[in-house]
This record gives sequence, C-alpha cells and structure tokens, in this order.
Amino acid sequence: MCGIVGYIGRRHALPIILDGLKRLEYRGYDSSGVAIITDKGLSIKRKKGKINDLIHHIEHESINGTTGLGHTRWATHGKPSDENAHPHRAGDVVVVHNGIIENYTELRALLQEKGHHFKSETDTEIIAHLVEDHLKSGASFEDAVLASVRQLRGSFALGVLSVRNPDRLIAVREASPLVIGFGNNETIFASDMPAILPYTNRMLFMLDGTIAVITADEVRLMDFNGAALPVHPKQFDISPAMAEKGGYKHFMQKEIFEQPQAITDTLRDRLLFDTRDIDLKDAGIDHKLVHALKRINFVACGTSYHAGLTGKYIIEEMTGIPVDVEVASEFRYRTPLVSTDTLTVAISQSGETADTLAAIRLAKKNGSRVLSICNVIDSTLARESDHVLYTHAGPEISVASTKAFTSQLVSIYLLAIHIGRSLGRLSKQQAASFFDTLVAIPALLDTLLKQEDRIIAIAKQYAKHRDFLYLGRGISYPVALEGALKLKEISYIHAEGYPAGEIKHGPIALVNEDMPVVFVAVQGRVYEKIKNNMEEVKARDGRIISFTNADNAGIRDLSDELFVLPAIDELFTPILSIVPLQLLAYHIAVMNGTDVDQPKNLAKSVTVE
Ligand code: M6R
Repeated sequence: MCGIVGYIGRRHALPIILDGLKRLEYRGYDSSGVAIITDKGLSIKRKKGKINDLIHHIEHESINGTTGLGHTRWATHGKPSDENAHPHRAGDVVVVHNGIIENYTELRALLQEKGHHFKSETDTEIIAHLVEDHLKSGASFEDAVLASVRQLRGSFALGVLSVRNPDRLIAVREASPLVIGFGNNETIFASDMPAILPYTNRMLFMLDGTIAVITADEVRLMDFNGAALPVHPKQFDISPAMAEKGGYKHFMQKEIFEQPQAITDTLRDRLLFDTRDIDLKDAGIDHKLVHALKRINFVACGTSYHAGLTGKYIIEEMTGIPVDVEVASEFRYRTPLVSTDTLTVAISQSGETADTLAAIRLAKKNGSRVLSICNVIDSTLARESDHVLYTHAGPEISVASTKAFTSQLVSIYLLAIHIGRSLGRLSKQQAASFFDTLVAIPALLDTLLKQEDRIIAIAKQYAKHRDFLYLGRGISYPVALEGALKLKEISYIHAEGYPAGEIKHGPIALVNEDMPVVFVAVQGRVYEKIKNNMEEVKARDGRIISFTNADNAGIRDLSDELFVLPAIDELFTPILSIVPLQLLAYHIAVMNGTDVDQPKNLAKSVTVE
C-alpha cells in the first residue's frame, strides 16, 4: 500500500524524506514523489517506478528546504504513471494520500462545476482541490483541511502542506495508519515506524477521525469537529537495525532465520517454568471468559488465515471447542452466526488489514468478544480488540510473511494449552508435555535452518518448473497451502495447495513428469494415508519432493527428493515443516531473479479493501 512521509524541522527535508520512503518500500508501490517548500518556491517531483528512478530523476537539482512531503503510490484509481504519482497539487495546496476516496466521482463533478481542472486520474487530486477551494473562501489552513475531510467518504491517511503556511504540515487519519515521531526540533510522520526510527523512538499512533497540526516543535491533535485532543507520545523499544537487512541478501531470508528468536520472544513471560504452565494474563484471557466460550471463530487474510486454519486443528484437539475459520473479506459481507458466547480471534501481522478490521467490527456488533493475535503494538486491530495476544516477531519487512506466521502459531499453541487446562480438557501432565515441546522449538528450528544448503540443492533442480502442487493431510494441509502461497507470491510460479486426499477428485489430472509435487508427510494419524497419495502420484510419473519426519525406506523409495524434519509431536509439526518450504520458495525466487522482498502487484500492509 502507499507510503507517506512528512518532515518539518531544521535539517534538509529531502534526504530524510527519501530515506523514509526507502524504509517504507516493503509496503509495495509503483511510483513515488516528493514536494519540498524551498526558498525558490514549491518543488514537486514525481516518477513512475522505483524510488531510485525518482532519485536519478532529481540528482542534478538542488532542492533545499526544511519542510516537505513524500509518497510511494500503490495504484488504485488510475494506472501507475508520472502524472498519477503523488504529491498532487491545487494552487498552493499539496496532498499525499493512502487509501481510497469512495465519493470522489461526485466531489470531482462538484469541483469541476466550480471551475477546477484535474491533471490526473486519481481520487487523491480532488482532496487538494477541496482544500484549495475552502482556502479561497477565506478559511484558515486548518479549517480548510477540516472542512475538506468532513466531505470525504472512504479511507484516508493524508499529508497536507500549504505554501502560504510553510511553518506547519497537517496529517489526517481515517482508516489508514499514520504515526508521528517527536524528535529534537523536528517532527516526522509516516505510514509506519521504520521511516521514523532513525530519528526518534518517541511516537504516537494517530487514531481514526483525527487531524494533527504539526510544526517542528509542537503537535496539536483534534477530531474532525475541531475539538482538541490530548497528545501522549510513547517510547517504543525498537531499534532501526531491527528494520535493516543485517548482512542477509533479502529481508525475507533474514526474517526466516530470525524465527528461533521471534518464537523465543513470543514465548517469553508467558511460560511459568516452575509449574510448566502457561500465563496469558497479558491478554486478559481468564477463567470466566474461557468457561463462557462455546465457539471460536478465526478471521484473517493470506498467511494469517493459514495460521487460523492450522489453529483449528490445534484448538479443537486441545480444548474440544469447535472452531470456524474464515477469510475476513468473505466474513465481512455475510450474516455471520456469532454471538456473545463466541470468541472471534483475528490474526494479523500488521494489525491494519482493512478486511480483518471490518470483520472484527462486524463480529463485535453481533456481540462477540474479540481477541487479536497481532505483531504491531498499538495498531488499529490491537486497539479495537477486547484482548490482544501480541506476537513479538519484531518488524517484518518482506512482503512474504514468514516469522509472523510461526509466531502466530506459537500464540495459538499458548492459547490452546491455556484454554485446554482451564477447561480441564488437558491433564496437568499433557499440558506440561506440550509446554516442554514449545520450549524445545527454537533449538529444533536452529538445527533445521542449518540445512539451508540442502534446500538450495533442491531449488536448483526445480527452479525452472512453472507449476507446482503442494499436498498435505490433517494438520499439514494448511502447511501445504502456506508453502504454495509463499512460492507463488515471490516467484510468480503457479503453485496450488490441496488436501492430498482430494487429488483423486480433480488435480491428479495435472500430474505428469513436469509437475513437481511437494508432499508434507509427517508421522501421525494420516501418515499411511498420505503415503498412499504419494503412490498415486508416483504411478503417474509425478516428481515427488517430500518434507517428512518419517525417514524410512518406504518414503525414500517414493521420493525424488527428501528433506528430513526433526521429530516432534504431530500437533506441533507445522511450526517446523513450514520453514523449509519458506526457504524453498525463497531460493527458487532468487534463482528466477524476482524482486523477492517487494514482489510485483503486492503490498505488505493491505489497508484498502
Ligand atoms: O498483516 P496481515 O497479517 O493482516 O496481512 C495479511 C495478508 O495480507 C498477508 O499475510 C499476505 O498474504 C502475505 N503477503 C503473505 O505472505
């Protein structure tokens, strides 16, 4: 999604804004631009393509000024082009925008009647014209922005500047994230923390329906009626290095290798070593809540949805509570059967995914309590939930989610063991044994990650294939879906995940010697069944790549490639088996030369519908 950076202070704004935009590149974008108030007037530069294209475009110009806005655009209205790139200008007013203005056609017609002319196909440009129109009628800059936002419908995070008011910037938030950083004689605001971290750790997440009037030394907040709001920035314990590559070739590779640490951090303070029990006090999941529960309902998108699908197997087994899992974009437009005895569990790395937010709002409206499993402290999802179980994976920059997924699984295990114990479904002994398994996972992952070379060798053999099938059964079925998603999103290779027992009902028609079939085949209740499915694929000349913790002659004979996973209780296998699949996708993408961290058409944080 689009990225916004605004700077006002004593230093040159341009390099700070460009650096901030680069730190937001992971959000996904197709053009970029800057607007700086210089001593010679306003300078606006925009370019289709990468930020480096913009830098190249302006490298011989001197654009000096201490106030400015920057933007990376992910096209919604109007194709990616120099003209549609932000900032957009009307007279003295400049606007950058993340989100969608739903009533832009009406507003555009209204403004055209008043004589305004538009140069782009975007919904954003109308905002600049609205503000200019109010300024022309004599409103102050602040009042002009206030009046304009009250006319807008949709989701919008805005940065606004007016050349006639060079001592201030205005930021607006309605359903799209914005964070303000409070520096020394400088203020920087952005769509996400990484753009701010090199300058300050004192930050404030703006709330929906608020406007910030920002100078170098002061921030004033108000609601859309102009009523003043308190300003309470918080200190965030995150370093800029946590959002840098640290010697790895890509963020994705770094984040795959950070999984043992991310899991340790997510477990920390929730494990009671004396009693081998789980403590979820931080999320407020108490005895009373657990005993009132009749149903759990996961809502999420993409990889987080796959964590929810895995969660169904874990929670039903450990707690006996029925679990539904639904893609948030479907849930939000149904009449869902949730009520006061349902716990809706929203899973989201970013905590800003528009569909997931809409889903929890609907669930709440129907009386359900909402627990979110979320990686971003103070995100919209966290704020709007009744309970939050934070994953502590650290900033995840690569578009492809990896360490967030395994940290989400850890949170689900914690939740399931906690509920299972509270309900007496798990004996003390069973819970203690699961506790020991959780504690052992980071070391097992370390061992697994040391076998990256084996994955590279497999990737070399198969990198040029254009279609893959990923199969799993039981708790390995969502792992197969997630493995396929990883491959398709970063390598653009077609990959389909399927429950292995279903192949004879259709997909087996595709199997031949050109179709690598990835099997996730772990020991447990469906192991013999999935071996039968391997036989079926083998009988049709399919090439089998097995990820298994059952290293025996039978599975070796069936497999063209075999990767052996560490042994672990069947319910915990997904947290190990997904990791080599992440590595396989990563290395195949690298071998195909794709833009691994920012794959085409994708955005890290999907803040529009
Ligand atoms: O931030 P969220 O977890 O809510 O994001 C949900 C999906 O957009 C996300 O998982 C997406 O599918 C990733 N690109 C997958 O790698």
